[in-house]
Amino acid sequence: SDNKSKSWHEAHQLAAKLYHHVLTVSDEGKQAREYLRGRGFTKEVIDHFQIGYAPNSWEFLSRFLLKRDFSMEEMEQAGLVGLRDSDSKAYDKFRDRIMFPIWDRQGKMVAFGGRVLNDGKPKYLNSPESQLFNKSDILYYFHQARPLMKKKSEAVLFEGYVDVISAWRAGIDNGIGGLGTALTENQAKMLRRNIDRIIICYDSDHAGMQATYKNGQLLRNVGLEVEVALLPDGDDPDDYIRKHGSKRFNQDVILQSVTFMSFIFEFYRKGKNLQQEGDRLTYIENILQEISQLSGAVERDHYLRKLADEFSLSLEALKQEQMGLMKVAE
Ligand code: UTP
Ligand code: MN
Ligand code: MN
Ligand code: MN
Ligand code: MN
Repeated sequence: SDNKSKSWHEAHQLAAKLYHHVLTVSDEGKQAREYLRGRGFTKEVIDHFQIGYAPNSWEFLSRFLLKRDFSMEEMEQAGLVGLRDSDSKAYDKFRDRIMFPIWDRQGKMVAFGGRVLNDGKPKYLNSPESQLFNKSDILYYFHQARPLMKKKSEAVLFEGYVDVISAWRAGIDNGIGGLGTALTENQAKMLRRNIDRIIICYDSDHAGMQATYKNGQLLRNVGLEVEVALLPDGDDPDDYIRKHGSKRFNQDVILQSVTFMSFIFEFYRKGKNLQQEGDRLTYIENILQEISQLSGAVERDHYLRKLADEFSLSLEALKQEQMGLMKVAE
């Protein structure tokens, strides 16, 4: 109901304000401030993204919200507190974590993501899912990036809040993030309604490459032109920006993004030795399959030529084989 969602948003807003206050001015927030400073988060960034710190206490937030007439039940439903199994006593879900508010597409605060300061587990903890917080409907920073996305008809998709924030600091104001590498058709359609082209900029590790491949197809299938911005092995956008700076991130990563099909050529090459006949044939088959999934005849022709050139193969033979694959797919 409306009442329920109103108290939900109010609880989140109050919590965010409190966490932000703890981070920016209190003694308890000192370690978190130093941690964030070490990672290059400026005062401007911390204010703009309303970042906070949840202190290491079991009832810091629940006490605060109780005094403001929120019931334990409301807090529990909002995912901010848990109830102990043994005696139903409430405890704060987020403790000793850097807190990132998460907004829905209208800009209402609906959840938090919390990061540990050290090597604790899990590294990132998000609010539990519920009627009002549906992970698969949320793109981090969407409500703010939207006008800029629309203007450029383009967005840059990152793995999560930290990368969105680092990229924003580097001047990328049309960046948005999933909450991890999962992406749903809902999120893809939400993007398609606002833009024509998307640049995927995920971590350069196994999970990031796999997700780029999977999500690239999803985004292409809703009608987006997909490009991929590649990082050196092992880096994520935040690592890269810290090592090489904003200017190089823009010039050498974002502006150098490649078509999704070029990424696919690279993707299938990983772990293969193309000097070896077996690997080479597998690779050619993989690429032919991908070409068969392209909807435009000109595009298919272009990549068939590229493949033929690469291995000095006859274009005619490739075309025939690819036509066969298309028939199978029908
Ligand atoms: P990563 O696992 O790549 O984080 O998740 P990271 O780069 O190692 O983290 P740092 O740099 O040490 O802080 C990327 C993003 O995915 C989201 C978070 O937004 C995170 O920033 N994520 C990840 C979640 O939301 N939930 C998870 O369980 C994991
Ligand atoms: Mn990652
Ligand atoms: Mn990681
Ligand atoms: Mn990462
Ligand atoms: Mn990172």
